[in-house]
Amino acid sequence: MAILVLGGAGYIGSHTALALCEAGRDVVVADNLETGFKAAVPEKARFYQGDIRDREFLDKLFETEKIEGVIHFAANSQVGESMKDPLKYYDNNLCGTKVLLDSMVAHGVNKIVFSSTAATYGEPERVPILEDDKTDPTNCYGETKLAMEHMMKWVSNAHDLKFVALRYFNACGAHPNAKIGEAHNPETHLIPLILQVPMGKRPQISIFGDDYATPDGTCIRDYIHVCDLAQAHILALDYLVNGGDNNVFNLGNGVGFSVKEVIEEARSVTGHEIPAKVEARRAGDPAQLIASSEKAKTVLGWKPEYDDLHTIIDTAWKWHQSHPNGYEEA
Ligand code: UFG
Repeated sequence: MAILVLGGAGYIGSHTALALCEAGRDVVVADNLETGFKAAVPEKARFYQGDIRDREFLDKLFETEKIEGVIHFAANSQVGESMKDPLKYYDNNLCGTKVLLDSMVAHGVNKIVFSSTAATYGEPERVPILEDDKTDPTNCYGETKLAMEHMMKWVSNAHDLKFVALRYFNACGAHPNAKIGEAHNPETHLIPLILQVPMGKRPQISIFGDDYATPDGTCIRDYIHVCDLAQAHILALDYLVNGGDNNVFNLGNGVGFSVKEVIEEARSVTGHEIPAKVEARRAGDPAQLIASSEKAKTVLGWKPEYDDLHTIIDTAWKWHQSHPNGYEEA
């Protein structure tokens, strides 16, 4: 039986597909290649190009391949874009998941692990954040992910289907082989943007606000390596295969770094001075997001390997240096 990775040509999906292949699993990847890259799909995986909103495509896939469980990454994930174009997010993230669950139920595929996000919490009331803390998203992206979690719950209540929602904090880094990594267009995430400075692609990095209620005034985030996220998906699927019930897990390192600290660490990794300029706050940014991932560690046996920011940035730096244009030809 194979594992179907939806959105397996994207950043976290491709790292998970590779980790599954490396673990000797039979892997099928499907992706519409709107934001993903064919070159990111592992050679050992069978690839199908198509969209989760296309019921015929999914039905055919489930009829062609014997699928044991689905790992679902196929979604839009830019917070800013979700505020400008909310219906795009409802259409792809929510309606797409509805079509997917319909097709899974019809074909008796009854296990799904999917990407949720720290954005489901909104402005946290305390850190570290626990899974049963209040969820009150401050952006449409987080709202659609929370709605996906709720949809899974009710579908599971009515049908033979079990799910695990993984709420990622700040995904970053790249596979240590530097063959796959982060490639977004446009890029909005802090670490790849910082590394564009030593790459000669931007003159400086902007710091979005230094007047937050944090020790150095800049926002604090919990940076978690993409390969550690990949391992968590495999553990979550195995948990369901072994009879585990519906569940939600935070995935982070439990340690926060400020924007200034991340820039300083990138200076140390790259040996470049990386000029930085303080600018206005970016709308919707909570001051601090730090995960408690104790539940994932206890229940899933998850052990993040990359708990040090220097190594995390170093893997990203090696990927960007060897792929200055991402997956696109120079
Ligand atoms: N930042 C800067 N300058 C930049 C880019 C980012 O100062 O040029 C700051 C942001 O303001 C924020 C921090 O760096 O304080 C991290 O920003 P990212 O855009 O890298 O990540 P976010 O924390 O905004 O978003 C991440 C994920 C989202 C997810 C969210 C949960 O990328 O998918 O966490 O809150 F929804």
